Amino acid sequence: MVELTLPKNSRIEDGKVWTKIESDTKAPTREFKIYRWSPDDDGNPRTDTYTVNTDDCGPMVLDALIWIKSNIDPTLTFRRSCREGICGSCAMNIDGTNTLACTKGMAEVSGAISIYPLPHMPVVKDLVPDLTNFYAQHRSIEPYLKTVTPKPEKEWKQSPEDREKLDGLYECILCACCSTSCPSYWWNGDRYLGPATLLQAYRWLIDSRDEATGERLDNLEDPFRLYRCHTIMNCAQACPKGLNPAKAIAEIKKMMVERRV
Ligand code: SF4
Ligand code: SF4
Ligand code: FES
Repeated sequence: MVELTLPKNSRIEDGKVWTKIESDTKAPTREFKIYRWSPDDDGNPRTDTYTVNTDDCGPMVLDALIWIKSNIDPTLTFRRSCREGICGSCAMNIDGTNTLACTKGMAEVSGAISIYPLPHMPVVKDLVPDLTNFYAQHRSIEPYLKTVTPKPEKEWKQSPEDREKLDGLYECILCACCSTSCPSYWWNGDRYLGPATLLQAYRWLIDSRDEATGERLDNLEDPFRLYRCHTIMNCAQACPKGLNPAKAIAEIKKMMVERRV
């Protein structure tokens, strides 16, 4: 019989129950179950339970996390910056879905709100995933304008029609919600570029001002970097900005075929 051994620190245990709300208070409350792990613990991760006074904080999940950190447990670790759905840093798994904590309303979840870091990424601490590989992959597609013709005196021009082709692509905030919801990326994240990076690759491939299309396609012509997408569409469902990386990937595959004929 095959015996499976769980990797170290992969079993999630029940953790501490934290509360600072007096038992006789009439304040409305919400319960949070939050993943906790620190490299200093040298043990399994755990889920801690927190009770939040919702009369005392804003309506979003990020508001509750900040309230917990300020009022109950200053060691709870998570990333955030803009709190407006623009910087992408508060991406996490809330109630089973990858999304942004600052745009996810507590009212959208019923019952206890469970929060985990983005799936299938190494964890730095608590809700902070290690995105080193994700950013290196983004860097590898050279996400900037590449040209060979001499620089124009003022600016590289683009017609309104060509500019429109970038809609649905340039809005990406690199939050990684899509890539970390993609089963192909879970299993081959070291070699498959994943939906976020490929959406950006397409953004530069169809930019009318860019002059490195052939070189960019050569860079993607590989059984893993592009072709691990099996059109499962988790990426489009997960994107908090309503973008469709699967469609962009399909367009790159079409460009690959077109340049062969
Ligand atoms: S469509 Fe492709 S990129 Fe998107 S989740 Fe599926 S396999 Fe991943
Ligand atoms: S495509 Fe959407 S989910 Fe993916 S990184 Fe960009 S904004 Fe985030
Ligand atoms: S804090 Fe910037 S996207 Fe949530």
